[in-house]
Amino acid sequence: MSRSKRKLEHIRHAISRDELDINSFDEMEIIHQSLTDIHWDDISLQTQLGELTLSSPLFVNAMTGGGGEKTENINRQLAMAAKETGIALAVGSQMSALKDPREKRSYEVVREENPNGIIFANIGSEATLDQAKEAVDMLKADALQIHLNVLQELIMPEGDRDFTNRLQQIEQIVKELDIPVIIKEVGFGVSMESARQLKEVGVSYIDVGGKGGTNFSKVENKRRKQPFSSFNQWGVPTAISVKEVKSVFPECNVIASGGMRNGLDGAKAFVLGANAFGMAGHLLRILMKEDLETLVQEINHIHHEFTIAMMVLGAKDTYMLDGKPHIFTGRTKTWLEQRLPT
Ligand code: FNR
Repeated sequence: MSRSKRKLEHIRHAISRDELDINSFDEMEIIHQSLTDIHWDDISLQTQLGELTLSSPLFVNAMTGGGGEKTENINRQLAMAAKETGIALAVGSQMSALKDPREKRSYEVVREENPNGIIFANIGSEATLDQAKEAVDMLKADALQIHLNVLQELIMPEGDRDFTNRLQQIEQIVKELDIPVIIKEVGFGVSMESARQLKEVGVSYIDVGGKGGTNFSKVENKRRKQPFSSFNQWGVPTAISVKEVKSVFPECNVIASGGMRNGLDGAKAFVLGANAFGMAGHLLRILMKEDLETLVQEINHIHHEFTIAMMVLGAKDTYMLDGKPHIFTGRTKTWLEQRLPT
């Protein structure tokens, strides 16, 4: 199957999500506070993600490009929404455009639509240093995402089977690039062990891409005649992954993503110490099933919700949410008790 056909299939399966996975943020409660001492107008959504100053804690996470006119159109509209709402945006994997220059257009359109916006380039961990530089140049990107998606590749019939040398490649790219390099998962989460390995090679930005939203086991299984359904529940849930990464790498710039549904999920992630949150499937679904205007309204609504949480918790700035009182219940609590004993 051609790469571009596969990308369109991914979009179709990702937005036609049947049953939802358990979301770890439903097993986390922030404790309500009755006295707040701030004025709504004094609240700022500006967020510091390491070296990057973002005007919002939310960004559109990596999805597409390289699938011809259809993905060009999607990327154009995502870029328009990002510009309108002042949020950052990551493009989908540029590996196809690195191999076939005709595919560049569907990525470049993002920079064209949003010349001054914050844009993240995106490559796979198999990419070389030269490919990383080319992906960044293609978009004049402000940061580079490198995605880790071992399980997806293994379930994908035509996926990669050789994962040797990946950490060394990442190390070299992190050392040589002068913009932030974000290592991200795609819905299976980052464990504390993996975070430790990434820390050792100099990584300082991790997007946990946890379980709870878009599920690439299910997506790839839908494309197989004989599915590996036993892996449909595999992965580290997002809230847990943020905790695991922070536990071994407290100074890491952590991005929460994977099943983020609303501003309150975002605020919960900040309470756990995240420095930004990304949404992919939820925003794509709105764009594809509704339209650009509805997508812009939704992003504004998410900002509003996030602001309500900040107001109630007495946080004028987003970093002030970190560590606000909260509890865990259910499976999330059990997991954390075994993995992060106090
Ligand atoms: C993705 N995702 C993704 N990630 C990446 O790093 N490179 C990519 O090319 C893609 N492609 C892609 C296509 C589609 C259609 C979707 C929905 C997602 C993964 C994405 O960035 C994110 O990590 C996961 O989707 C989990 O977040 P959500 O969707 O639960 O918010």
